[in-house]
Amino acid sequence: MKWIHIAAILAVPCNGFSLFQDLLLGLGDTYGREPKSLHQEVQRIADNSVITILSDIDSRYSLRVKEIAPEKLGIDTVKQWSGYLDYEDSKHWFYWFFESRNDPEHDPLILWLNGGPGCSSFTGLLFELGPSSIGSDIKPINNPYSWNNNASVLFLEQPLGVGFSYGDEKITTTKAAGKDVYIFLELFFSKFPHLRSHDFHISGESYAGHYIPQIAHEIVVENPGRTFDLTSVLIGNGITDSLVQDDYYEPMACGQGGYPAVLTEEQCGQMSKDADRCRTLNRVCYTTESNIACIAATAFCDSVTLGVYEKTGRNFYDIRGPCEDKGEMCYYGLRYVDDYMNLPEVQKALGSDVHNYTGCSNQVGLGFMLTGDGAKPFQQFVAELLDMKIPVLLYAGDKDFICNWLGNHAWSDKLDWTYGDEYQQLPLKAWKSNVTGEEFGQVKNYGPLTFLRVYDAGHMVPYDQPEAALEMVNTWISGVHDFGYTHE
Ligand SMILES: *[C@@H]1O[C@H](CO)[C@@H](O)[C@H](O)[C@H]1NC(C)=O
Ligand SMILES: *[C@@H]1O[C@H](CO)[C@@H](O)[C@H](O)[C@H]1NC(C)=O
Ligand SMILES: *[C@@H]1O[C@H](CO)[C@@H](O)[C@H](O)[C@H]1NC(C)=O
Repeated sequence: MKWIHIAAILAVPCNGFSLFQDLLLGLGDTYGREPKSLHQEVQRIADNSVITILSDIDSRYSLRVKEIAPEKLGIDTVKQWSGYLDYEDSKHWFYWFFESRNDPEHDPLILWLNGGPGCSSFTGLLFELGPSSIGSDIKPINNPYSWNNNASVLFLEQPLGVGFSYGDEKITTTKAAGKDVYIFLELFFSKFPHLRSHDFHISGESYAGHYIPQIAHEIVVENPGRTFDLTSVLIGNGITDSLVQDDYYEPMACGQGGYPAVLTEEQCGQMSKDADRCRTLNRVCYTTESNIACIAATAFCDSVTLGVYEKTGRNFYDIRGPCEDKGEMCYYGLRYVDDYMNLPEVQKALGSDVHNYTGCSNQVGLGFMLTGDGAKPFQQFVAELLDMKIPVLLYAGDKDFICNWLGNHAWSDKLDWTYGDEYQQLPLKAWKSNVTGEEFGQVKNYGPLTFLRVYDAGHMVPYDQPEAALEMVNTWISGVHDFGYTHE
């Protein structure tokens, strides 16, 4: 047990801070403990407002769709639906879909995914970019910078075990999760067939830097018979290429990421030394893709980077401040989201079968950890998209530590694709608002690949810089991929 226990203690999936924290606090044997996300109280309540759609691809899958009366919850006034994708009686994924506030008959569709692995996409919905956030009185506050201002937005709770999603089977790899998301999307489009002709973008953050490339591969390569197309992908503060990204914890913590050093010189020196061994372990993981090798890489690399940073008491997701609430990914305000999602009237209005909502599931995080999924490479699927001329936006809040902008910038530079050399040689230049002229950050673009550094934002860019994030997404989905970047 010791090996796994040590691996579990040290392996911090991007975003999966609560897991790390619980284990670090020595709450004992993970397997012996009552898992937080065990849904003992699942009961499917008959509800005649729910429509069920069967899959043409695989008859074992069906989609439940319930139209929500907007005034019941007050999250937005637009039309919205929620429900489950069901796989027989064993797997059930929950979603919540909002129409665009502008022109739902023509505006694009955006799928949003949070990371973890194991964190609910309702963190994005109610804390970052959705139509409302939740105040300390556990009531919705309208978000004027919601991403559904000019697009319809679909929030999916995946993989199984996240948020209101539940089931008997365990999903423990990005690959398996990607297959399920593809089937979900086909079913979703059969309920909303007019959306098939709209632009369709997949966006997300953190561990979605794993999910999104895999899902995109599943759509554009594995399923030539698909009924919809993928227009682009957007990844915010992602973890995609850990071999490269692990080299940038030291510079980020030691004053080279645009923020003063938060570690001592001695700690920084040690981190640089440990980076060599980390790189060696990551290389073995990349070449073998064996679970054991990848668990070993994560365990070692995380202990010598995140483990050291943790001692500073700072927020993993925002180097500027302290970790306010260790149980809630450092943000006290995330408690309001949990409290809201646990209100019986909210669950009734949404039609959830599950009555205990947790923002991040430790069980899901642990399952992924034990397959070494975190250290495995996913950047090759990004190269595949670029070679097919499908646009990719990598954006990064520059005050995040855990999936920092330096590491994201570096892996985009090293990426092996048709115009990789041309892209790599380009400098970052100012990214200015097209509305106010304010400098929001820095940008670099070549053909279908764009990297954006967003100033003064942590891991959750739309939370810290809602205006910049909305202009970013609206510019991108309008088809402007260079953000004004010129090649002179
Ligand atoms: C975005 O939505 C606003 C109204 O909500 C509208 O005035 C504007 O024209 C829309 N922009 C685009 C590009 O559709
Ligand atoms: C689920 O919530 C109910 C009340 O809402 C509570 O009594 C029960 O203990 C919770 N179960 C778990 C596993 O957290
Ligand atoms: C800025 O706005 C103009 C006019 O709407 C548009 O043509 C241009 O593409 C925009 N540029 C960027 C970088 O968004």
